[in-house]
Amino acid sequence: MRVLVTGGAGFIGSHVVTALTDRGHEPVVLDALLPAAHPAPPRPSGTEWIHADVRDRAAVAEALRGVDAVCHQAAMVGLGKDFADAPDYVGCNDLGTAVLLAAMAERGVRSLVLAGSMVVYGEGRYDCPRHGRVRPGPRAEADLAAGRFEPGCPDCGTPLRPGLVDEDAPADPRNVYATTKLAQEHLAAAWARSVDGRAVSLRYHNVYGPGMPRDTPYAGVASFFRSALARGEAPTVYEDGGQRRDFVHVRDVASANAAALEAVAATAPAGGLTAYNTGSDDPHTIGEMAEALAAACGGPAPQVTGAYRLGDVRHITASSRRLRDQLGWRPVVPFDQGMTEFAHAPQRAGAAPAARPLRPVR
Ligand SMILES: NC(=O)c1ccc[n+]([C@@H]2O[C@H](COP(=O)([O-])OP(=O)(O)OC[C@H]3O[C@@H](n4cnc5c(N)ncnc54)[C@H](O)[C@@H]3O)[C@@H](O)[C@H]2O)c1
Ligand SMILES: [Zn+2]
Repeated sequence: MRVLVTGGAGFIGSHVVTALTDRGHEPVVLDALLPAAHPAPPRPSGTEWIHADVRDRAAVAEALRGVDAVCHQAAMVGLGKDFADAPDYVGCNDLGTAVLLAAMAERGVRSLVLAGSMVVYGEGRYDCPRHGRVRPGPRAEADLAAGRFEPGCPDCGTPLRPGLVDEDAPADPRNVYATTKLAQEHLAAAWARSVDGRAVSLRYHNVYGPGMPRDTPYAGVASFFRSALARGEAPTVYEDGGQRRDFVHVRDVASANAAALEAVAATAPAGGLTAYNTGSDDPHTIGEMAEALAAACGGPAPQVTGAYRLGDVRHITASSRRLRDQLGWRPVVPFDQGMTEFAHAPQRAGAAPAARPLRPVR
């Protein structure tokens, strides 16, 4: 297949390009090289690529020539600086997706794999021993300040048991980025209905691995820890370190994209979008991740600070069983091995951390 990979110069996109090439496909990259993601120009990779913005209709139409399927990774990522970033997020992520889909409709390209995100769920799944499945709202500042980090049952206050979200959990996007990721899925579903196309959204969990950008307002927590250790400092862990996440290796995410691209044309139902959680199915706490990285680097032990950020979710882990069952995908990089490799792997230079992080409080 000839596959257009938007955002193919980015962290995940560049691994997708490698996975596609290894499986005998022909990737072509379209990337605007956003300065936040690329303060320095990327090294030449030998892959065919077009320096253009997904919002540029003419460039996208040209890039789609002879293409069988699109793998849409291009997006502005992370929490950003503040609400003033909202128009840029909506522009890159949603207007960009609409322009891409319109060009695909015109060119007759009918297969799409979208880089989705588990941020569309908001909080994870929780069960109360007395009331069963419940949906706690955002945690109150008074609770966080008192060190009560576990969300309680909205009915009886009992600490809740965290569980795994599945793809049918209701969406609850809680910031601009999450809202744009959900809108991308709705746009792709509308496109699929309108043109009888086939769309898959891979809702990635916390992706980490070689090439991950350094600590920027747009990067993930593994990057912050890795950068602190590279400076010889202890990783600083918020709350009590017990926040549960699913860390999935970037090569596994890339192979999920390749599997989805191969399956989407053959087996996905036409006229709709299918969402797949894409995680390792081996949840760990943030504290465990910091310890694994510190040990692998031979650096100082993590400092668990009890500080917190309003708006952070306590636990979010999902079941990726649908992806395993329907597409036969298996993650192959175990947590310990992946973290050890990541501790020594080069990071991509990130943009200057011009922004304050989302209000840490002590
Ligand atoms: N990293 C994660 O943990 C994670 C988790 C969930 C979802 N995702 C999704 O995965 C995708 C890739 O993310 P990443 O972590 O590799 O980020 P990244 O910033 O490394 O890569 C994104 C790429 O898209 C390009 N881009 C952005 N806006 C563009 C535009 N308007 N036109 C053309 N190119 C544009 C950037 O230049 C960059 O190369 C994104 O869609 C993101 O939402 C990432
Ligand atoms: Zn209860």
